[in-house]
Amino acid sequence: MSPEYSVSLRRKIDEVAARYPKKGAALLPVLHLVQREVGCISAEEERFVAQVLGLRPMKVREVVTFYTMFLRRPVGKYHLQVCSNLSCSLLGAGPLLDYLQQKLGVRVGETTADGRFTLSTVECLGACEQAPSLMINFDYHGQLDGEKIDRILESLE
Ligand code: FES
Repeated sequence: MSPEYSVSLRRKIDEVAARYPKKGAALLPVLHLVQREVGCISAEEERFVAQVLGLRPMKVREVVTFYTMFLRRPVGKYHLQVCSNLSCSLLGAGPLLDYLQQKLGVRVGETTADGRFTLSTVECLGACEQAPSLMINFDYHGQLDGEKIDRILESLE
């Protein structure tokens, strides 16, 4: 059964789409809007957005799977995205990820039982000069080691 989307969400989508000469051009802002309201862009949301904007579902899938800021399933309150690209790998992203997995008791792609933390890996965050880097929700953190991670996580409690 497909989920019901609120009248309010549909109205907001119409308002965003009306700013563009073609509805389909509003795809990125509409995806952000839907993710904010629903929590993620699963296959159901992809179909919904495609239908509302008059796009092929595959077009929406291509965009959602290209940009790592779109979540395909719900995440915890804090989404930790550890960069696994070259600069970060050379400067300790692997041990950092091992440390986080052990500290949080989850593997990459999992959420802690209390729903607070989801651990993911991503390609370059564009913060290579701060390697190894991660993002927690929309905040960047760099030059990380176990001690610094501990302090950051404690500050989130
Ligand atoms: S390689 Fe990690 S931020 Fe660029």
